[in-house]
Amino acid sequence: MKINFLKLHNFRNYEKIKLDFSNHLNIIYGKNGVGKTNLVEAIYALSITKSFRTNNDRLLIKNGCESTKIEGEVENYTQNNYEVIISKAGKKVKIDNKTISKISDYISNINIVLLEPEEQNIFSDSPSNRRKLLNIEISKLKKDYIIYLNNYNKVLKQRNFYLRESYINANKSRDYLDILTNKLVSLGLKIYEMRQDFINSINEYIAYYYQKIFGLGELKVKYVSDYDKSPEEIIDRYNKNYNREVIVGKSLYGIHHDDLIFYLDNKNIAEWGSNGQQKNAIFSFKLAEIEVIKKEKNTSPILILDDLFSAIDNEKIKNIVNILDNNIQTFITSTDLNKISKKIVNNARIFNIKNEEIKEV
Ligand SMILES: Nc1ncnc2c1ncn2[C@@H]1O[C@H](COP(=O)(O)OP(=O)(O)OP(=O)(O)O)[C@@H](O)[C@H]1O
Ligand SMILES: [Mg+2]
Repeated sequence: MKINFLKLHNFRNYEKIKLDFSNHLNIIYGKNGVGKTNLVEAIYALSITKSFRTNNDRLLIKNGCESTKIEGEVENYTQNNYEVIISKAGKKVKIDNKTISKISDYISNINIVLLEPEEQNIFSDSPSNRRKLLNIEISKLKKDYIIYLNNYNKVLKQRNFYLRESYINANKSRDYLDILTNKLVSLGLKIYEMRQDFINSINEYIAYYYQKIFGLGELKVKYVSDYDKSPEEIIDRYNKNYNREVIVGKSLYGIHHDDLIFYLDNKNIAEWGSNGQQKNAIFSFKLAEIEVIKKEKNTSPILILDDLFSAIDNEKIKNIVNILDNNIQTFITSTDLNKISKKIVNNARIFNIKNEEIKEV
């Protein structure tokens, strides 16, 4: 999969630009704050329809403007034109000039794998960030995933509401709660299976990448879920804890509590790993994902390495580029071209951002 060109209109600091890319290596360099990340953020948003830096879509609109448009031509067996238009009123996506009403029909089309320094935060932050990682990555692979997830969240809300109602009014029917519980469990188990499958696939490759690029040790990811049981056992658990759930007014079990634990040589990296080991672990996860996408979708994703020179040394970045096959379109950003190995520079299309202008050098 390749992006042939990117066109931006009022996106972040860019008023109007069009860039043609290499099918293989692309380097974007320039001083701090010139708009390097903005550019790869646009490529990312063309795929996911969202930024990786903020949940607030409006921040993507150039200051003082009403809307932004990201447009790109992507080649994946066929050549298609993709558009994401964000305005204060909302978001619109198009493929080949046709509006796509269901976002799930749009976002599984362009596959992007992003490595950036902030990602290491998934080890210190709450489990919700690790679930977010799962949600984003799996929705790129499976169209139905977001639909199940949205439905699960809807039922979860209804069930929590009903639990709170039951606290106020003890005569509330248990039958309706049972219906909601059954719905929750059946949707949750679908999500559980997709998440489990995804992590199983990641585990087929992650140890390889860790050892090949980053260092010694056996890296593994464990998926932890309340739903790793039979439907009967899960429902039984809800029934046994009915009183507690009514008192706290929320569903105490479910895939909304899922978590991921990274183990290096059987030790939990979040608790025990060094800063460097944590970074290497999440980057290995992302590289393993390239293989998972290749296997599932029969195409290579587009790879973005944003500001990785501030996170890992040059030698490792060279290893990453060397180990991946030449077929992967890659975007690398850096403040300094000299930080990037000659071999990469000599084979890349190079874009320099200076004084609000992007020039190919
Ligand atoms: N909505 C917006 N409208 C106009 N300018 C914006 C908007 N959002 C961000 N910017 C500008 O974009 C710049 C930051 O761009 P970006 O994060 O891409 O920099 P960078 O080149 O990646 O820098 P670094 O090397 O520090 O990572 C800032 O100067 C900021 O003012
Ligand atoms: Mg940046």
